Amino acid sequence: MSDFVHSGWGWFVAIATVVSLVFCLVLLIIASRRKVMAADNSTGHVWDEDLKEMNNPLPRWWMWLFVITVVFAAVYLALYPGLPFNTGTERFGGTLRWTSVGQFEAEQEKARAALVPVYAKYAEMTAEQLAQEPVAMGIGQRLYLNNCAQCHGSDGKGSTGFPNLADGDWLGTGTHDYVKTVIVEGRMGVMPPMAAAVGSGEDVKNVAQYVLSLSGSAHDSVAAQLGKEKFAVCAACHGADGKGNPALGAPNLTDKIWLHGWGEQAIVNMITQGKNNAMPAQGRLLTTEQVHVLAAYVLSLSQTTRVAGN
Ligand code: HEC
Ligand code: HEC
Repeated sequence: MSDFVHSGWGWFVAIATVVSLVFCLVLLIIASRRKVMAADNSTGHVWDEDLKEMNNPLPRWWMWLFVITVVFAAVYLALYPGLPFNTGTERFGGTLRWTSVGQFEAEQEKARAALVPVYAKYAEMTAEQLAQEPVAMGIGQRLYLNNCAQCHGSDGKGSTGFPNLADGDWLGTGTHDYVKTVIVEGRMGVMPPMAAAVGSGEDVKNVAQYVLSLSGSAHDSVAAQLGKEKFAVCAACHGADGKGNPALGAPNLTDKIWLHGWGEQAIVNMITQGKNNAMPAQGRLLTTEQVHVLAAYVLSLSQTTRVAGN
């Protein structure tokens, strides 16, 4: 702000504030000492024939209220940042040195400190043990809704490009440590464009049909048969049987779970354009202990699906 606003304005506001406070006090003193003007204690003004304006002093208690407000203002301005003049290079911030940011940080620090013993207990537990702790799962769910739901959906079921976290199917290994690492560091899912390696447009379509056949999806079996041979260039990452490779993050193509859409066109697009799919790192937003609990919650999403569903 001070880059744009001349510091003289700070002084102007500070002086105007102090002068008006003093002015209020002076006015109060003058008003309380003012002598009666006419013999009958009136100002001499008369309306509607007999309505006289009297000149009584303010009631004492009323006057003291005024004094108290002025004193309160003075004390407040000394303690809190209310007078925006500069002392040296710094702006006068009140003797308490209170700032809204400082208060916010102090409250945050207090909340964090209160949670330390809670998280200390959870840090010792495995994901399976945490899944049995309703309080831990409640914390995990709130962390999830605040930090992850916008991309993965409030139920964790994801959408095109954003993986379903509740189906037990993972691009990577799906362990507790894996999920923790993804949360902290984010993730890059990279498949290079492969059309040149596959061959002609017809070849690309045939491979796509072969990929569909891997999961028993509706496909053209003649085309699939032709594409099978070309799938060799895909096998390096997706495996010869198309079951994927968690170490490379290459998904299983035989499970009817389609992160980037189902059907010939979606697969042709994957082959011709490749994919750079990124999850931004979330580590800055969460403590290590929070990540530990949150990852256990994420794993529990597919656990409950498995128990209830299959
Ligand atoms: C800005 C969107 C975004 C946010 C926010 C986000 N993610 Fe992701 N996440 C993604 C995308 C996109 C991928 C897929 C990356 C890829 O294709 O490799 C992903 C992948 C993952 C994976 C790997 C899935 C697998 O199958 O291996 C996990 C686990 C995960 N996210 C958990 C989380 C958690 C927990 C949070 C909250 C702390 C979160 N994500 C927040 C977009 C997001
Ligand atoms: C260099 C490794 C690599 C090669 C080679 C490769 N892929 Fe992929 N593929 C990946 C990765 C990694 C992903 C996941 C991208 C992500 O995380 O979003 C992927 C995703 C896909 C998907 C999307 C799956 C889904 O669930 O939606 C399809 C389909 C696919 N690949 C087909 C192929 C075909 C066909 C070939 C051969 C022409 C091929 N890939 C070659 C690494 C590879």
